[in-house]
Amino acid sequence: MSDITVSRRSALGAIAGLGASAALAGSTTAQGKSAGLTSMQRIEAWELGERKGIASLRRASRPQPLPGPGQVLITVRASALNNRDLAIVSGGYGVRPRPATMIPLGDGVGVVTALGADVTGFNIGDRVSCPHFVNWLDGRYDPRVLEQDLGSSTDGWLADRVVRPAASLVRVPDELSDVEAAAMPAAAVTAWFTLQQFAQVQAGETVLTLGTGGVSVMALQIARMAGARVVITSSSDAKLERMRALGAQITVNYRTHADWEKRVLEATDGRGVGVVVDTVGGSSLDRSLACTAPNARIGLIGALDGAISTTLRPVTLRNLLLRGITSGSRRTLEDVLRAFAANNIKPLVDRVFPFAEAPAAYEFLKSGGHVGKIVISHA
Ligand SMILES: NC(=O)c1ccc[n+]([C@@H]2O[C@H](COP(=O)([O-])OP(=O)(O)OC[C@H]3O[C@@H](n4cnc5c(N)ncnc54)[C@H](OP(=O)(O)O)[C@@H]3O)[C@@H](O)[C@H]2O)c1
Repeated sequence: MSDITVSRRSALGAIAGLGASAALAGSTTAQGKSAGLTSMQRIEAWELGERKGIASLRRASRPQPLPGPGQVLITVRASALNNRDLAIVSGGYGVRPRPATMIPLGDGVGVVTALGADVTGFNIGDRVSCPHFVNWLDGRYDPRVLEQDLGSSTDGWLADRVVRPAASLVRVPDELSDVEAAAMPAAAVTAWFTLQQFAQVQAGETVLTLGTGGVSVMALQIARMAGARVVITSSSDAKLERMRALGAQITVNYRTHADWEKRVLEATDGRGVGVVVDTVGGSSLDRSLACTAPNARIGLIGALDGAISTTLRPVTLRNLLLRGITSGSRRTLEDVLRAFAANNIKPLVDRVFPFAEAPAAYEFLKSGGHVGKIVISHA
């Protein structure tokens, strides 16, 4: 599964120490010393500030973080946004306490720059990433992962250099650029978990995915990789055109067709879809359920449209599987990166913003004008 050689025990110990990431004035690690790193050096970062909206984001100069035992220092090359980053910067997401100095963004990629004590399996110069729930290494979801959630409850990627537990890291395949790799952790892991681990999508099945944001476009690409037929919805005909170019066979504009579930049923000869990647929730779930085939599996991922529906009658009548999905583990990230690389598939990155213009990336996400992912280049 992994080429990381730290034991699970020492990995968990390293994760427990993540918050105290050795940013002590004047201190160094053995490896940090050899790399000429000290906490007297400074890095540039963005901070969440008071979390009252995008305007709360603020630039900061901070001491160089240093890796403690089991940790690595990473020079960040690119970071990326997800829908939740809008909620985080507005104070509507995550556990407390919420220090104003918290660095945002749960997705990123960078190069290993220094190794803390006891780190094996990684070398200086390795290109790495990790899941935003950094201590979810494998297995089932445990709500305690929220306590170490990058960009929400612990420092994220929008900085020059960051410290991460070595146990959480995956190597980034050469086939993916920095920008492409940064686009993947949260959205690709969520889509992969939904389609591969939960729904176990089969070739020839029909997958419905909603909207053209980060998770939904990854779901389209992963479903096509698996040989499935894809139905995708959007508020924009221009975006649907782009989805057809990516391989979607059936496209429906949910704005011009409020009863889009009927279009989906027509397009599937009345049978309905075998898998739903529901990124919207709310009243939209009623429509998703209405166009399911018997034995369909529904991944309930998003809350873009208010509260979760209580209209669950089809779940019983059609023998459906409905599963809530938070995200996925380090293991899932490793699997999805390998699959994209092996199939020469690139994630759809809509726009790349420079580090200095991070708030503009948030504004673009908020506008909903994007298709797929929005990335920040730290180059
Ligand atoms: N990103 C992740 O890894 C992740 C993980 C777990 C859960 N989630 C949840 O999944 C949802 C999507 O996240 P994301 O990061 O993929 O979002 P995103 O990139 O911001 O994409 C949102 C897209 O969904 C469509 N949409 C928005 N409101 C809609 C509505 N009321 N009805 C139908 N479609 C609507 C729009 O597509 P069009 O412009 O094409 O209409 C919009 O661009 C969010 O609720 C998020 O919290 C995301």
